[in-house]
Parts: sequence; structure tokens; C-alpha cells
Amino acid sequence: MSSPEARIAIIYYSSTGNVHRLAQAFADGAADAGAEVRLRRAAELAPDASIDSNPAWRAHLDATAYIKPATLDDLEWANGYAFGTPTRYGNVSSQLRQFLDTTGGLWQAGKLANKPATGFTSSHFAHGGQESTLLSLYNTLCHWGSIVLPTGYVNYEVAAAAGGNPYGVSCVEEQSDDDEYLKAVLEAARHQGSRLAEAAVLLASLTSRPSAA
Ligand SMILES: Cc1cc2nc3c(=O)[nH]c(=O)nc-3n(C[C@H](O)[C@H](O)[C@H](O)COP(=O)(O)O)c2cc1C
Repeated sequence: MSSPEARIAIIYYSSTGNVHRLAQAFADGAADAGAEVRLRRAAELAPDASIDSNPAWRAHLDATAYIKPATLDDLEWANGYAFGTPTRYGNVSSQLRQFLDTTGGLWQAGKLANKPATGFTSSHFAHGGQESTLLSLYNTLCHWGSIVLPTGYVNYEVAAAAGGNPYGVSCVEEQSDDDEYLKAVLEAARHQGSRLAEAAVLLASLTSRPSAA
């Protein structure tokens, strides 16, 4: 029997690129650990008038049009998940939420359970609600029966340099002009992407083991 491989789906929403940058670092970290990776974006739902009111939003949407939209097949295929969202009033963005709210059929069929899953976010302010956003995301993962994989302080130096959020990798946008800070956050994202891939292999080997008679 061949050993299980990590198949990691990184599914995110980003208006202006901060969460996209984290998602890319997660993808790099998972690939470094040997995973097959699908980087997918939650579809845009906002009206054109809103998008066009912010040139950075329109530019990012156009620049990332090549990234495939997330599908239910990505969730069924993967054996590990990372979900990314901007902090929106201390909560998950409606675009990512809408995608999560299409998963009832997979949930009912037991296709989402027993897989490691983590979250990441970006907010403007350090105290703008990153933890509440991640905890809100994790409510859904609890319902799925995921093995929720927070960052903790597993690698203390990496976590501390990135702001010390143990709930998941997070970026404070107003600090991201500081190259050292941004580098540390992206390193934390790569590290967590690798860790997610390693956890996926471990859990897949446990769940594929024939049950004892
Ligand atoms: C509608 C809306 C709500 C937001 N709510 C918060 C918030 O509660 N706290 C905060 O610090 N930033 C908030 N922000 C700022 C975004 O979280 C921040 O700019 C983030 O880095 C954007 O990520 P993106 O570039 O991937 O879209 C909000 C932005 C918008 C448009």
C-alpha cells in the first residue's frame, strides 16, 4: 500500500491582496512539504459599483482572475484545508462565508470530516478583530468534524515575530509596510502551510488504517 499524500486546498477571499499574499505563502509552504496544492479563491459577490469605488479592489480582482474559483470538488479532493479571509467587522467575509454555506451536501455525506483545517486573516488594526474572525471561521470547522489546527506557539520564534496570534496566521495591514514584519508574517504562513501538509499525511494514514477486528 502506498503511503498517503497531502492534498491541500487553500481557499481564500481577498479584496485588495493582503489575504491573497498570505494564501500564496501557505501554498508555498504546503508544496515545500511535498503536498499537492490547489490555491482557489472564493467568488466575488460585490456589485461592480462597490468594486470600482476602490481602485485597489478592482485592480486586485482583475490581476487574480487567473486563479480558479473554489468548488465543492476542491473540498472533496483535499485531505487538508486552509481558509483565508479579511477581517470584516470582526468576522468572516461574506464571500468566503457564501462558499462555506454551499457545503451542506458534502457535510451530510461525511466528506469534510477528520481532515486538518486552519484559518488565516488580515485586518487593518492589530486589535481589529482577527481572533474573533478566526474563531467564527472555526465554528464551521467544528460542525464539519475537522481537526482544527491553530498556530499556537508551536514554533515560538516564528509566531512571536509574526505578532503572536495563536489562533491562526494573521497580518496587520497597517504594519505591513515594515519589511521585517511582513517577512515574518509570510514566514509564519509558509510554516503553517507545511505543518498543515504534515498533519494531513498523518491523519490520512490514521483514517486509512484498517480498523482492528
Ligand atoms: C467592510 C469592511 C470591514 C472591515 N472590518 C475591519 C475590522 O473589523 N477590523 C479591521 O481591523 N479591519 C477591517 N477592515 C479592513 C480589512 O480587514 C483589511 O483592509 C484587510 O487587510 C483587507 O484584506 P484584503 O486586502 O485581502 O482584502 C474592513 C474592511 C472592509 C472593507
